[in-house]
Amino acid sequence: MNLDSALHTLTHKLALGGMLFALCLPGVVAAQTTSATGTGPVHDRIQEARTNPELEKQLLGKGKRVAAVCANCHGDKGHSSSADLPVLAGQNPDYLVEQVRKYIDGRRRNMFMEGMLKALNRDETAGMVLYYAIQTADPQPNQPPALVEQGRAYYAKVCVACHGVDGRGTAHMPRLAGQHPGYVQASLEHFRKRDGVRSSPEMEMVARQMSDADMRAVAAYVAALP
Ligand code: HEC
Ligand code: HEC
Repeated sequence: MNLDSALHTLTHKLALGGMLFALCLPGVVAAQTTSATGTGPVHDRIQEARTNPELEKQLLGKGKRVAAVCANCHGDKGHSSSADLPVLAGQNPDYLVEQVRKYIDGRRRNMFMEGMLKALNRDETAGMVLYYAIQTADPQPNQPPALVEQGRAYYAKVCVACHGVDGRGTAHMPRLAGQHPGYVQASLEHFRKRDGVRSSPEMEMVARQMSDADMRAVAAYVAALP
């Protein structure tokens, strides 16, 4: 399936209205062991672009075209407007490359995302990653101040070691600053339940210690970070 046919399928699904949300639900996809794209080549291509401005420009152009398809859910320039859909703006490149690989090899399960990402070739994937990485993320407005304060303390104790003082992560650690609190909470729940929707030994260990209230508080805190 190429990107055009993925878009065609998507448009068809959008026309089916209610079907869309069914597709967004974590799928019961059998784990796959083969990887069509693999991150090696995408990662290498991104590195190549860092020292080759002409290639970078080319990839960014492709990335922008890809992002136009993703905008249906992830919003203009990666600023998704729904609490269930992750913000991609400002997300760290190596983290995104790894998530693409996880969806494709089954370590992260969402049937729809798997299909979309499989439809991208190496340069489209590299371009998409570069394009989102350079967009500016905005804090999510109107987080309840008491919750934010509670979350600040929890974050400083537990999360700061990996996601950084400013919540912006590192090349391989995801940015949490400005992420939708609903998506953060849902992700933490998947890690805690170990339901196979997401898998990460680090996050499973962290989430196992968290109550629902901790998750709510820390999600509000990171959402409000610039
Ligand atoms: C129909 C809605 C929809 C469309 C269209 C869509 N996505 Fe997604 N995307 C989602 C949902 C829902 C999730 C969260 C699923 C999960 O929890 O794994 C997600 C997650 C992601 C993630 C993981 C983000 C993170 O912070 O870990 C990436 C990367 C991503 N999408 C990229 C894309 C790209 C690239 C496109 C376009 C080619 C695209 N998506 C199109 C719904 C969509
Ligand atoms: C030991 C390092 C470590 C610690 C501590 C840690 N994380 Fe993570 N976190 C990770 C890694 C690695 C990932 C990527 C997991 C993956 O590939 O799915 C991640 C992913 C996440 C994600 C998913 C991001 C996305 O865009 O989908 C959220 C949400 C998250 N962490 C929240 C937290 C919170 C909140 C805390 C503190 C309570 C925390 N993490 C503490 C390492 C850590």
